[in-house]
Amino acid sequence: MQTPVIGCIRTRSSVDHRAVEEESMSNEAKEVTGLRPRVNEAREFIEIAKDFKRPQELLREALSNSWDANASTASITIEPMSAPGNTRGRKKQLLNITIQDDGEGMNEDEIGYFFNLGDSHKPLGSIGTKGHGTKIYYKSDGIRVTTHKDGMTIEAATEMPPWESLKKGIIPTYRYKTVPNEGGIRGTTIRVSGI
Ligand SMILES: Nc1ncnc2c1ncn2[C@@H]1O[C@H](COP(=O)(O)OP(=O)(O)OP(=O)(O)O)[C@@H](O)[C@H]1O
Ligand SMILES: [Mg+2]
Repeated sequence: MQTPVIGCIRTRSSVDHRAVEEESMSNEAKEVTGLRPRVNEAREFIEIAKDFKRPQELLREALSNSWDANASTASITIEPMSAPGNTRGRKKQLLNITIQDDGEGMNEDEIGYFFNLGDSHKPLGSIGTKGHGTKIYYKSDGIRVTTHKDGMTIEAATEMPPWESLKKGIIPTYRYKTVPNEGGIRGTTIRVSGI
């Protein structure tokens, strides 16, 4: 009996033809279960960050987060990044942006949500729901956060240039340390360099 050839195309070379035949011989009926689709994490970070196209969207995301943290004041300082490398090979002038508020700040879990993608745990009625907003900061050379909550101060920072890493398919890692908040300071300061 002739072996059935699945997917054989007439115009294939004889070598290709043999490869298809060999493959088809091991093509016994099977069922594969429990397969988990994978996420290309670096690409997702890039796509979400790119969804924020206009510069004013950063201001909206930052102010929304300060509002949700019940801040009564928030300030945003925008400065041109000084040379060298202030354009990262593009025509566009890169900026250093600092966002400072007097809101409730972040604990260790919330610092995680800040850097995570799609990991929002805000109460109903908040502006933020998606866990996408801060990912606009990944279009930069560095992110640093100082925040105060529950008697602790947390200092967190990316350990590698976020945008460059993502473009290489690497999720930029971050680190943080906690120290007692002895001065009773409130709020959060976010410094984004080279955005
Ligand atoms: N200024 C801030 N003060 C306190 N927590 C903050 C601040 N900025 C960000 N966060 C924390 O970081 C998390 C991630 O922020 P992000 O803006 O990405 O998501 P979101 O606000 O929850 O949802 P959305 O994508 O709809 O804005 C927030 O859920 C919050 O816990
Ligand atoms: Mg937000």
